[in-house]
Amino acid sequence: MSHARADRPELSTVIFAGAGPGAADHLTLGVLRAIEAADVVIHDRLVGPEVLALIPAHVRRIDVGKEGFGPSAAQSDINSVLVTTALSGAKVVRLKGGDPGIFARLDEEIEALSAHGLGFHILPGLSTAPVAAAAIGQALTKRGRNASLRILTGHDIDGFAEQDWRGLAREGEVAAIYMGKKSARFIQGRLLMHGARSETPVTLVENASRPDQRIHAGVLADLPALAACCQGPAIILFGLAPRAAISAIHTIEEARA
Ligand SMILES: C[S@@+](CC[C@H](N)C(=O)[O-])C[C@H]1O[C@@H](n2cnc3c(N)ncnc32)[C@H](O)[C@@H]1O
Repeated sequence: MSHARADRPELSTVIFAGAGPGAADHLTLGVLRAIEAADVVIHDRLVGPEVLALIPAHVRRIDVGKEGFGPSAAQSDINSVLVTTALSGAKVVRLKGGDPGIFARLDEEIEALSAHGLGFHILPGLSTAPVAAAAIGQALTKRGRNASLRILTGHDIDGFAEQDWRGLAREGEVAAIYMGKKSARFIQGRLLMHGARSETPVTLVENASRPDQRIHAGVLADLPALAACCQGPAIILFGLAPRAAISAIHTIEEARA
């Protein structure tokens, strides 16, 4: 659903689009078409080089994850670039890593647009969790093992994020934990305190779907050490181990061959 501003119909609605975690293969056709038709693409640091390469040369790019915007750009600065660019009449695509509705501050940007009467449209993207699970040859849900899947963040606005640790500590539970590297020790401590087995499988997928993808597999007892091995963005798949047959896959190139 999209809405144009009634008093200024020449203004186009901003398209929030999901770029997936890295590989261009994961881009939807809808997102690709939106990028090709855009005047300006405003993107995050987590949008992979393969996807950035698909932005036509004539389309202006604004990297709001870049140093000029600070190592971690203030959301208010991003909102203001978004609003100003949309008010100029340019066709804007706001491209976010993964899915724009999962830990991507989508609501804050929509509210900034709405405050200026600007409309929006959302084109979903593949979030990291299913892509990472595929990389280790696993399903995120399995009959008889887990009837629900938890999507968690390791930290939120107040620091380390509290969760339903008791529920997650139950045998067979599965969680995809985003932004969990820095809080790995906290997560481990909370889960053990609430009765999780220290041998519960834990797999980190670093740089999922990118040429430098790495899989770090172990158990809950190893979680801080596994997290310390990751240089790039990583997702924690709690309760999942790589399927044995997949352990020979080291890189996404080999997986594609
Ligand atoms: C701000 S959240 C963005 C999530 C994104 N909207 C999504 O749907 O995947 C950033 C976190 O997503 C995860 N992430 C994003 N891209 C990743 C990738 N290529 N490989 C592994 N984890 C990734 C990491 O946990 C990272 O800290």
